[in-house]
Amino acid sequence: MITNAVLSKQHVDAFKKIVGDRFVYTDEESLQKYSHDETEDLHYLPEVVIRPSTAEEISAILKICNKEKIPVTPRGAGTGLSGGALPHLGGVLLSTERMNSILEIDERNLQVTTEPGVITEVLQNAVKEKKLFYPPDPSSRGSCFIGGNISENSGGPKAVKYGVVKDYVLNLEMVLPNGEIIWTGANVLKNATGYNLTQLVVGSEGTLGVVTKIVLKLLPMPRHDLLMLVPFHSAENACAAVGAIFRAGYTPSALEFMERDALDWVTKFVEGSTIKIEENVQAHLLIEVDGNNPDVLVQEMEGIAVIVQEFECGEILFADNTQQKTELWKLRRRVAEAVKANSVYKEEDTVVPRAELPVLLKGVKDIGKKYGFHSVCYGHAGDGNLHVNIIKGNLTDEQWNGSLKDGIKEIFALVKKLGGTLSGEHGIGLVQKEYMNIVFNETQLRLMKEIKKIFDPNNILNAGKIFDV
Ligand code: LAC
Ligand code: ZN
Repeated sequence: MITNAVLSKQHVDAFKKIVGDRFVYTDEESLQKYSHDETEDLHYLPEVVIRPSTAEEISAILKICNKEKIPVTPRGAGTGLSGGALPHLGGVLLSTERMNSILEIDERNLQVTTEPGVITEVLQNAVKEKKLFYPPDPSSRGSCFIGGNISENSGGPKAVKYGVVKDYVLNLEMVLPNGEIIWTGANVLKNATGYNLTQLVVGSEGTLGVVTKIVLKLLPMPRHDLLMLVPFHSAENACAAVGAIFRAGYTPSALEFMERDALDWVTKFVEGSTIKIEENVQAHLLIEVDGNNPDVLVQEMEGIAVIVQEFECGEILFADNTQQKTELWKLRRRVAEAVKANSVYKEEDTVVPRAELPVLLKGVKDIGKKYGFHSVCYGHAGDGNLHVNIIKGNLTDEQWNGSLKDGIKEIFALVKKLGGTLSGEHGIGLVQKEYMNIVFNETQLRLMKEIKKIFDPNNILNAGKIFDV
């Protein structure tokens, strides 16, 4: 691993020549600003921040860094939760925020070509104006960049029906660590032409290259949706209801789980919230269906309501106007912020086969009791993806950085036993890499590391993320 950066004034001057003085920063304030993402309370100062505007500029920067073995950390909006954008080795922080143009919306083929620094929701709204739909919608969609979503293979609530980012990426332009610029595939819906470089790059967390153009598949925009909030007296029952809904033949467009604390904390955090939680409620499911025929959607909601009642739910709230729907979604999307505002926390992005959710939830709570930590769990239950937020609360720094890790290892061992894995959508980055050997053996890890070496033999690009080479 690179630990001693070799950045000098000459390098900084060379970067300034490439992108212009105005877009290279070494002042304390800028370095601080780019020293963290949304992961825990972690900060690492880069030595220089560069904001290029083209693939050619990135190519010129990477050529220097590759030759001089300077660590480079690519960064989107810095909303990541696994430390992927943390410049933990110093060196160059490469921000894509100036590359923020939507280049073409191809209405004939239902595709969009975009630069990586476009905010996901801005992209969604731009295609929506043409009645088109880009479904992946991480909670941070109002601030995260599409490029970061590609790096992490992000998901979000709609993934349960529409799939995650990988299901929409057709082709990528990327700059390799040696400065070469390539396209990974073709702008087609089917492609059986050699290894799938596009999908290798999706979710590679900025370790293989810097993505500079993205071609995405779009869908026609569904015309209607319905939403309901279902309270449960038992959180495990809420999880058990999830599998039953699918087994009965329904595919909701979102099926989200929120433990009591998650909804309770966020209703207090978001101003003007009108949602009341009954005393004996342990968890909620937020269930959405969408489509083009409103009558069919009503029937689906009624069918789902019958199923959840078998799991001893309380009174269902049917959101019957846009304002109520917007409020419920706002609450759901801001849970992570509400938890963060309450306490330092570690986020474990567990994912298991859907029907194993009740066992996972119980296991997490039992492990919490054993190690003395409180957790707030919520997430994309329809995908079997449970965000386990471990709250620092009264834990000492020693416990937080020491024995807690054994608890986390137990959670991941359980996840593995249930047929799941470490991360559903937040990635491995810096903070989860020490757990990779729980789910992968030496051979599997070696294959991944060899791939990294082919792309980045000098290990300059986001080195020390996902694994140490
Ligand atoms: C969410 C983010 C944290 O589901 O993934 O809200
Ligand atoms: Zn999530």
